[in-house]
Amino acid sequence: MKRKSIVYVSALTFAFLLSSVPSTSYCAEKGKSFSPTDSEMLTPHSLPQPRINGPLVYGCRPGNPFLYRIPCQGERPITFSAKGLPKELKLDPSTGIIKGKTPAKGEYLVVIQAVNSKGKSKRVFKIVAGDRLALTPPMGYNHWYAHYDRITDKMMRDASDVMIKSGMADVGYQYVNIDDCWMNAPKNNDPLRVGPLRDEKGNIIPNQHFPDMKGLTDYIHSKGLKAGIYTSPGTLTCGGFTGAWQHEEQDARQFVAWGFDFLKYDWCSYGEIAGKDKSLEAYKKPYRQMGTILKSLDRDIVFNLCQYGMGGVWKWGGEVGGHCWRTSGDLGFELDRIFDVALKNSEHRQYSKPGEWNDPDYIQIGWIGNANKMGTPELTPMPAAMQYAYMSLWSLMAAPLIYSGDMSKLDEFTLNVLCNPEVIDVNQDPLGECALVIKHSEGNFLMLKNLADGSKAVSLFNRGKVTADLSVDWNELNIIGKQSVRDLWRQKDLGISDQKFSTQVPAQGVVMLKISKP
Ligand code: GLA
Repeated sequence: MKRKSIVYVSALTFAFLLSSVPSTSYCAEKGKSFSPTDSEMLTPHSLPQPRINGPLVYGCRPGNPFLYRIPCQGERPITFSAKGLPKELKLDPSTGIIKGKTPAKGEYLVVIQAVNSKGKSKRVFKIVAGDRLALTPPMGYNHWYAHYDRITDKMMRDASDVMIKSGMADVGYQYVNIDDCWMNAPKNNDPLRVGPLRDEKGNIIPNQHFPDMKGLTDYIHSKGLKAGIYTSPGTLTCGGFTGAWQHEEQDARQFVAWGFDFLKYDWCSYGEIAGKDKSLEAYKKPYRQMGTILKSLDRDIVFNLCQYGMGGVWKWGGEVGGHCWRTSGDLGFELDRIFDVALKNSEHRQYSKPGEWNDPDYIQIGWIGNANKMGTPELTPMPAAMQYAYMSLWSLMAAPLIYSGDMSKLDEFTLNVLCNPEVIDVNQDPLGECALVIKHSEGNFLMLKNLADGSKAVSLFNRGKVTADLSVDWNELNIIGKQSVRDLWRQKDLGISDQKFSTQVPAQGVVMLKISKP
């Protein structure tokens, strides 16, 4: 497996992970532009009138800083208002950003409204002040699969600009997360990433590409977005940069002082510390430690466990304070196997619930860097239909929706896949159920996800190389009588049936439906 940095290989080896992972043949031609036909663009254009999107329920901890930008499509200017907002919170009517201090423990039903010259949108938003966060899967951006060890402060700021300008934030994306390589390394090809690891008091020192961490999070927060950071419980991260070993609390406090809202904690060289101890307790230990620290601090930090599924993390990730956990190795090495990775992830469906999510890794479409060589971004060669299937799978599985491609090169098609609010509603559904695979043959499979409003998200996947005629019978879904069927990607009602629904599904693609009582 070719990689840019020797340190990186050895650090990952500690994770006992990737040696058997097949490499992919990802090699889109440089500069080739992707021009999907109109029929391949499934998500209709958003309308000029407001449409409030995003989660219906939002968890936060009393007394901590509160920040939420109401995701809303529609022509600006839009005027936002809110009824029932606790007095500790203030809404800026022109930006839709709600700020303040989380009120006392309790549930607050807030009616938010967005109005512009073309119309209005209203929805009830439940703020749950308590000890739980991430009541719906986190949505955002992570730099890894586009920029690897080339990431800078400027690129993160630009990513947050794009999250707003592209409309991603208007459908619910909110975290802007730095991955590895923001710290100093003992050695690295880039001299600006080499320097003292910590100061005389033991405080971690960001490398010269990150001159002002507080300035960076302030910038991200000024847009109503949230900021994420990364470290490892080991001495070194997977990329060979400074980890948190023996500075866990000090680093967590630093992340709070800088203003971060999300922490990815990556096992990496911790394997050396755990040594031969492969007990469940050994796997849990560093995560329980950090989970306990984070709970004691006065900031809401979503805790993302990255240890590739060791010790069946889905069974105990929540117990140690995690909000989401990777269920497998790096998907960047397996992009030709997304169906298999998803099906494997969905086997852990019983552990998916509000505040606790199985994470099969990021959405890698658009311009991404080949993970085998930590390459510069190239256009994905993944067929259009398969990209819709990818996004459908992640939505049905209630997986975190974290885009990890080049934000500066987001094209219309990639945004079309990333930003369908009806598909995202399935991901953000408050029940938090991960879809169940109902039938599965070599060539195709059917998934069902029960939704909070009593309806069902049902998807027909075709893994084959030619279009397939597929159908779903109501008895397979345990429903009887007349049902209305809606195509979620096309946002189109397809009619009412009392028995079954049949359709053509494109090669390597999906038809994603919502089935409900008429
Ligand atoms: C591991 C993780 C990736 C990424 C890299 C950073 O491989 O699984 O998601 O964070 O480390 O080095």
